[in-house]
Amino acid sequence: MTTQTQVQESQKAPGRGMTAVAAAVLWALAGTAGAATAPKVVSGPTPYRVSSDCAVCHGMRGASTDYDVIPRLAGQHKAYLVMQLQQYRDGHRADQNGNIYMAPVAQSLTNAQIDALASYFSAQRPRMQASGVHHAGAAAGKAIFTNGIASEQIPACMACHAANAQGMGTFPDLAGQRYRYIVQQLTYFHNGTRQNALMGQIAKNITVPQMKEVAAYLSSL
Ligand code: HEC
Ligand code: HEC
Repeated sequence: MTTQTQVQESQKAPGRGMTAVAAAVLWALAGTAGAATAPKVVSGPTPYRVSSDCAVCHGMRGASTDYDVIPRLAGQHKAYLVMQLQQYRDGHRADQNGNIYMAPVAQSLTNAQIDALASYFSAQRPRMQASGVHHAGAAAGKAIFTNGIASEQIPACMACHAANAQGMGTFPDLAGQRYRYIVQQLTYFHNGTRQNALMGQIAKNITVPQMKEVAAYLSSL
């Protein structure tokens, strides 16, 4: 029941996002029409693809905070980014926002392009960091992260995501990730629309208030 509420809440996001994307596309079209206002092509080590395909949503450095369901990518582990991009491309990460926003951009990526994009975003500094916006429940969230809730079969998140929440390899860095994005992903794992054997099991028993608490803690790091 509470999960239902969360899912409904989340459905507002694509609408807002789509408007923004449409606006950005219009802006980009307007830019190409008048050569004087055309955005500069980024040269050097930055993959051109980032500016053409990713920056509108994630920002050039993977740190955009324009839309709260769009994750930070700056400094995220390369192996994790590679895996997620492959999953979007191959249709394995097929949660609602993934389908709407990421499947279209990921579908044509080659493994070499995925590798380059993941290298680029994982190398961006500063890495993900707290936005300074405080959400209620961070103390309770820290307790869940550190100890889990044994009586409700919720394992300690720290066991896999590390004591500092920075993860490793294909275990994602969660420290400083965005509040709303974290709540959304826990919802997807909980309802099974984002499939992962480990996280599906972990999120099975977590309630919406607990998701928000743990997100309040993680986004504050
Ligand atoms: C239209 C907006 C949009 C564009 C363009 C876009 N993204 Fe995303 N991206 C999103 C959203 C929204 C999500 C979260 C989707 C979800 O909930 O599964 C996301 C998720 C991701 C993730 C998963 C991160 C994580 O922590 O699990 C990666 C990696 C990613 N994007 C990389 C890219 C790259 C690389 C590009 C360019 C090739 C790109 N994105 C273009 C909106 C966008
Ligand atoms: C047994 C190991 C394990 C434990 C314990 C664990 N996680 Fe995870 N977590 C993972 C793995 C692996 C992934 C990547 C899943 C994928 O590739 O889709 C992940 C992904 C996530 C993500 C998505 C991050 C992103 O950028 O999209 C969130 C949020 C998350 N975990 C939160 C938690 C929370 C909160 C807890 C504690 C209640 C927890 N995890 C406990 C292994 C674990």
